[in-house]
Amino acid sequence: MSKNIALITGVTGQDGSYLSEFLLAKGYEVHGIIRRSSVDYRERIAHLEGTPNFHLHYADMGDSMSLVKLVGKVQPTEIYNLAAQSHVQVSFDAPEFTADVDAVGVLRILEAVRTNHLEQSCKIYQASTSELYGKVEEVPQNEKTPFHPYSPYAVAKLYGFWIIKEYREAYNMFCCSGILFNHESERRGETFVTRKITLAAARIAQGKQDCLYLGNLDSLRDWGYAKDYVECMWLILQHDTPEDFVIATGVQHTVREFATLAFHHAGIELRWEGEGVNEKGIDVATGKVVVAVSEDFYRPTDVVNLWGDPTKAKKELGWNPQATSFEQLVELMVKHDIAKVAAEDAAANIRTMNLAEFLEKGIVK
Ligand code: NAP
Ligand code: GDD
Repeated sequence: MSKNIALITGVTGQDGSYLSEFLLAKGYEVHGIIRRSSVDYRERIAHLEGTPNFHLHYADMGDSMSLVKLVGKVQPTEIYNLAAQSHVQVSFDAPEFTADVDAVGVLRILEAVRTNHLEQSCKIYQASTSELYGKVEEVPQNEKTPFHPYSPYAVAKLYGFWIIKEYREAYNMFCCSGILFNHESERRGETFVTRKITLAAARIAQGKQDCLYLGNLDSLRDWGYAKDYVECMWLILQHDTPEDFVIATGVQHTVREFATLAFHHAGIELRWEGEGVNEKGIDVATGKVVVAVSEDFYRPTDVVNLWGDPTKAKKELGWNPQATSFEQLVELMVKHDIAKVAAEDAAANIRTMNLAEFLEKGIVK
């Protein structure tokens, strides 16, 4: 039997790290693309390095030559294209880079597969997004809901979605998009709203931060757990026919609800007062303002009503969208961040102790 060989772009990201673990556990040979950086941010996959079936290679989504060479060398049977400039707000500041990586990058992967004559043997998963629904035209959103992208990020991802569909039809390739709604975890980037909240709640509860500043508190999201969602990426490629799927929990909450629950798990009960930019989250026990609104986090256009209908994934892939509930997700993220903040303190104490010892011994003057 031929070996399953996966190539993951975006392996150092939240999803790439969970997907690597998932595929390694299934016996895959896993290859990941990393890019050169002056500081080494491989924290999420550090525990996998050295695993016999896990290999990392330098390449970049903006560099066709590197992708063509790598696909030729690895000869993957499945490619998971997760690499992206994935922050919506940042896409307003860096729209051209976002388009290059998130739109043209998808084309580069498809052409790398064709150039190596692998189009009939290599399946491709494209990390598409609920941001395509943008200024939503119906709720909840399913595979038939019209797209209305509402940020440079979403417009770039729309190109990715259509070029995948085009190559499927033009060249009979097994390439599919997972239209994934927001999914979070202990490994979520720290500037996405959920992680920003859970880290701040942990710091405020331990007296390390006074106040958390957020943008639009009314924004609605369908938040799931990233570890559950990577299974779906794999299931999409194991389906008999190449198709696109909505992946979501089917449950919607506001940013304010997420914050209320996160602070609760950090031991702080919040009371909300005021409206719009004047709204405040107040610690009921102390009367202190611990959450405030800053216009810095408002977006030129904001997507405010994402709510996915995962019926097709449930029926055709047998996937369980409720494996981890919203309540469990918030709790596990807060617990993780409470421990992380406490550990940072412990590490700082050890550094201080070392310095004192060095000073005493005259090693440091
Ligand atoms: P993430 O944590 O931001 O990871 C993004 C990955 O892309 C990182 O490994 C990053 O590498 C890599 N990357 C960025 N630019 C690159 C380039 N020019 N060349 C090579 N690699 C590059 O994102 P995520 O949350 O795991 O999401 C994975 C994918 O799913 C993304 O495409 C995202 O747009 C999409 N998506 C995410 C969600 C969600 O809620 N998480 C929902 C729908 C769709 P560095 O570590 O070097 O920066
Ligand atoms: N980041 C951030 N920071 N968002 C905030 C803040 C804040 O301080 N305050 C309110 N928000 C609101 C945003 O305006 C948005 O409406 C919502 O919270 C979620 O923002 P993010 O967590 O940054 O995620 P996103 O929905 O824009 O994008 C994520 O999900 C997409 C899928 O729907 C990313 O992971 C994308 O890559 C992904 O495609």
